[in-house]
Amino acid sequence: MAEATPSPVGLVLEPDRIRERVAQMGAQITQDYAGRSPILVGVLKGSVMFMADLVRHIDLPVRVDFMAISSYGEGGRSGVVRILKDLSEPIEGEDVILVEDIIDTGLTVTYLLTNLRARKPRSLEVCALLDKSVRRIIEVPIRYEGFDIPDEFVIGYGLDHQGRYRNLRSIVGVRDIDALAEDPDAIVAPYV
Ligand code: IMP
Ligand code: MG
Repeated sequence: MAEATPSPVGLVLEPDRIRERVAQMGAQITQDYAGRSPILVGVLKGSVMFMADLVRHIDLPVRVDFMAISSYGEGGRSGVVRILKDLSEPIEGEDVILVEDIIDTGLTVTYLLTNLRARKPRSLEVCALLDKSVRRIIEVPIRYEGFDIPDEFVIGYGLDHQGRYRNLRSIVGVRDIDALAEDPDAIVAPYV
């Protein structure tokens, strides 16, 4: 009898599921920040799709800004992050929401929170679409969380592998990264 090949794909979050959850998160932010005008700070590039959808579910006069930092792989696991592009406006006295695609070890967001806190915002909260909580090294206070996900490398909806797959409409957990490199279409084709 032939042995079953384990699927290279694990978690799949379909566009409808993402849309529904992002709408809920936007509604929650609208409620929590009523009467205020928060600045949403996105971390490039992974948070771009999430940010674009999230802000359209926030019924407040929000502002949006972005930071770019050295990315996964290049940055290593030290938790020391290099800022490649800083915010375009000061955040002193402002209500700031840091918008992340995914929190893995927590090192990156911890570094960013320390950096942003030093600029004396009135408040500072974290909004993350994905939380790979089993991998956490440093505890992170996540005020708004989309999905808690298993320990799989995820691509799509802004998340990349070596710069690719950000444009997938679903979020796809890849169990076998080597298989992705060998035959990407075999894994990705159903989710474009
Ligand atoms: P952390 O410092 O380990 O929390 O890493 C956070 C950053 O690593 C995220 O902002 C992503 O850019 C990247 N990252 C972590 N896990 C994944 C993944 O499964 N797919 C794509 N990027 C990831
Ligand atoms: Mg990121």
